[in-house]
Order: sequence, then C-alpha cells, then structure tokens
Amino acid sequence: MTSDRRPIKVLGISGSLRAGSFNTAALKAAIALAPEGMTIETAEIGDLPHYNDDVRLAGYPPAVQRVRDQLTAADAILFVTPEYNYSIPGVLKNAIDWASRPPSQPFDNKPVAIMGASGGVIGTARAQYQLRQMLVFLNAFPLNKPEVMIGAAQTKFDAEGNLTDEPTKDFIRQLLTALADWTERLR
Ligand code: FNR
Repeated sequence: MTSDRRPIKVLGISGSLRAGSFNTAALKAAIALAPEGMTIETAEIGDLPHYNDDVRLAGYPPAVQRVRDQLTAADAILFVTPEYNYSIPGVLKNAIDWASRPPSQPFDNKPVAIMGASGGVIGTARAQYQLRQMLVFLNAFPLNKPEVMIGAAQTKFDAEGNLTDEPTKDFIRQLLTALADWTERLR
C-alpha cells in the first residue's frame, strides 16, 4: 500500500478462547504481518454473557459495550474462526449477536476479512461460509478473496504458537493487503 493512504485500524477477533488456540495464533501472526499503515488490535469475547434480550433492554453489560465500541471504532474487522460442527463457535456467534443489536449496528457497511485454522483438511471452509451468510444480514462487506483456510494447523505452528509455514504467511499477507485495498475502496 502507498504511504499517502490514511491509516487503517483493524479489529481482530479470534473465535477460540483456549490458550493454545491455532486461531488466536493465526491472529497473532496477522498482527505481525500487517502491511504498512495497518494496525490490528484485538477484541476479547470470552467474558461476554450469553445473549439475553432482557439484559440488552436493561442496558448493555460493560463487556458487551466494550466490544461494541471497539467494533464501531474499527475501519475493518478480521475474523479468525475455528470450525465447530461445521459452523462457527458459539462464543463467536454470541459476540456477533450482542454487537448486532440497536441502537447502532457496527457491522453495517464495514469491510471484513475472514480466515480460520483447523486440524482438518479444508481448514474451516464450512464455518467461513456460514459466517459469510451472517454478514449478509449484517450488511457488512466481506472480502471475497483470497480465502485463507489453514488446514492441518498442527503442522503449521510451533509449540509456542508461532506460525512457521511460509506459504500460509504469504496467504495472510495477501489477505491483509487485499483488506487494505478493500477498505480504501469502501471509504
Ligand atoms: C471441532 N473441530 C472441528 N474441526 C473441523 O475441521 N470441523 C469441525 O466441524 C469441527 N468441529 C469441532 C467441534 C468442537 C466442539 C470442537 C471443540 C472442535 C476441531 C477444531 O478444528 C480444532 O479443535 C481446532 O484446533 C479448534 O481451533 P483452536 O482452538 O485451535 O483455535
């Protein structure tokens, strides 16, 4: 990206809460691989309560408000999702549900990039397409390509969670560069 562009603030959300998560590790790799002018901060979603519309009507809990504010402030969103039973994990769906309610809807018109890692061969493809379907309702603008589906994740990260697979690093670089272009086009 060229230096005359405005900085791009991305909010990265991992759909896994576990310490040894490949998806959180992939998000960490993305932070390090971000192109010039792009910064990626992360959102914690593990402390959000289960969605309850009665709670929402009484006022968003502080943890929910924090994530909603982070989403609103971001120029773009990067989802890094595991695949659970051919879909996205409940914790990620819960965060999206909380974020999607009135009075503001922070996904509206927002550029989004998606990636994911799993031990299986097709690397979260089914979960990613379910997430894309949700983004239609939310009127977000997911980037079509490249698709970053990190299969056989156990062979691509070391024991400390560092991404060691060079082709995967290249895919992530390409995704983030495309997200920068996409965000600029949608501004
Ligand atoms: C899985 N896993 C899995 N993998 C896959 O490729 N397709 C699937 O549908 C599922 N389903 C599934 C359900 C549940 C409840 C769990 C806990 C796991 C395996 C999953 O991809 C693997 O555990 C990943 O390592 C999870 O991501 P993190 O935690 O490493 O980021």
